[in-house]
Amino acid sequence: MTGQARLWWQDGIVYQIYPRSYQDSNGDGIGDLPGIESRLDYLVALGVDAIWISPFYPSPMADFGYDVADYIGVDPIFGTLADLDKLIEAVHAKGLKLILDFVPNHSSDQHSWFLESRSSRENPKRDWYLWRDGKADGGYPNNWMSNFGGPGWTWDEGTQQFYYHSFLKEQPDLNWHNPEVRAAIYDSMRFWLDKGVDGFRMDVLWLLIKDPEFRDNLPNPEWRPGESSFWSVLPTYTADQPETHVIVAEMRAVLDKYEQRVLIGEIYLPLPELVRYYGVAENGQLDGAQMPFNFRLIQTDWNADKIAALIHEYEGVLPPGAWPNWVMGNHDQPRIATRIGVDQARAAAMLLLTLRGTPTVYYGEELGMLNGRISPEQVQDPAEKNQPGIGMGRDPERTPMLWDASAGGGFTTEVPWLPLNAERGTVNVAGELEEPRSMLALYRRLIELRRMHPALHAGEIHDVRSKRGVLAYTRSVPGSENRFQVLLNLSHEVQTVTCDHGHIVLTTIMDGAGSPVGGPVVIEVGEGLLIQLN
Ligand code: GLC
Repeated sequence: MTGQARLWWQDGIVYQIYPRSYQDSNGDGIGDLPGIESRLDYLVALGVDAIWISPFYPSPMADFGYDVADYIGVDPIFGTLADLDKLIEAVHAKGLKLILDFVPNHSSDQHSWFLESRSSRENPKRDWYLWRDGKADGGYPNNWMSNFGGPGWTWDEGTQQFYYHSFLKEQPDLNWHNPEVRAAIYDSMRFWLDKGVDGFRMDVLWLLIKDPEFRDNLPNPEWRPGESSFWSVLPTYTADQPETHVIVAEMRAVLDKYEQRVLIGEIYLPLPELVRYYGVAENGQLDGAQMPFNFRLIQTDWNADKIAALIHEYEGVLPPGAWPNWVMGNHDQPRIATRIGVDQARAAAMLLLTLRGTPTVYYGEELGMLNGRISPEQVQDPAEKNQPGIGMGRDPERTPMLWDASAGGGFTTEVPWLPLNAERGTVNVAGELEEPRSMLALYRRLIELRRMHPALHAGEIHDVRSKRGVLAYTRSVPGSENRFQVLLNLSHEVQTVTCDHGHIVLTTIMDGAGSPVGGPVVIEVGEGLLIQLN
């Protein structure tokens, strides 16, 4: 801790809602903003502090809202601007915060900016996007690829040039070298900040700037045919370019004109590069994103040695004054219970909610939801449609929230846009609220303890180690009696390890609270112990 006053996003917990899948209020099988509003009491009872909603802006939905046709509106599928105003008010009335997803790297090809840009080479907005001539032989301007497969360039017949898109051809990349583009996006951010939203999660923040010389990316020697064509080249000139940090600081300056707003960045980079997105210290304060999302728990093998090393590495590279954060899942990644198993998912919950740093919980993880089974004819995600069968699809982690065991899962009264998960008979909010040892009960208790104890939400982390597959660490506030030890058996065998003296506050199995411990202790597979130390 720096001694400065702590801010809500440091002590709080972020909860991600994928709005298509949270709660349908009007019977079209797709979730919406009034649906989210009707579930706020659930979120208050869960104990989270901030809700981040994936995009709800007007969109042709080529990438389900990550193709924005108007940065300052609401798509009718999700409701109206008045619904959003109501939601902001309701969220704040309940003491929660609202974080919007903002997509600055690319717009929809139906955005008026792109329609203008595409209308002629002389149009004043031509330079708002990345237009290039083809090679002399008619080939693509360079070898830059699309994240969703195939070349990143699409030919425009009308104006006889190519435009670049990091994702779908329906998602042309904006030209962030152009000051008018920057000003227009910052104006859109202010539109929402003036309405009182508490921050932004910035989509693909590390991709905003591309090499102004459009040099070829370097070949990737590790790429094998059959893997996504995107990785056939390295993102040498299309990602993490130095000027991106200038833009992040500009965005932060926009937010800093308001009180207590937070800038979160979606950034998939190795830790040393990731933490540079905190920015540099200006007048004692870092000037970049307050939370460059740390996805390493998603990307690291579920193994105590590796996770202990990860915690050490992350804590070691954080610049002075930077507050850590941890993400366990999102709408682009397989669900944790599917990735590591239902037992280990309980240990994962304790890990996420007892580490030092702001945790982000993806909706449904608190129930132990699994990946949905999506048959080929049910596929919605363009990432799967473009490159079928190689594991690119994200529909499985986007299936509707399971509120109860009814046919529509409490999510909808009609046909849901993605099928409901098969486990909904046992994995759902209503059932788990009745079950004292459910995953939901575990999340609620962990969150309650995290909120209650300064050592857990604001304290330091020490003694991070692993032995025989058990990860251990302590959390404490210097000079205070408030000290905890966490032990997590991430192995596939029951283990006996030595713990410090104290008493059990919580186990992931939810038994034994209050029992004194100290010395050898037996831990079940996937079990976690939270011990308050003497
Ligand atoms: C981000 C989003 C992802 C989207 C992509 C393009 O990675 O999380 O869902 O498809 O950006 O906007």
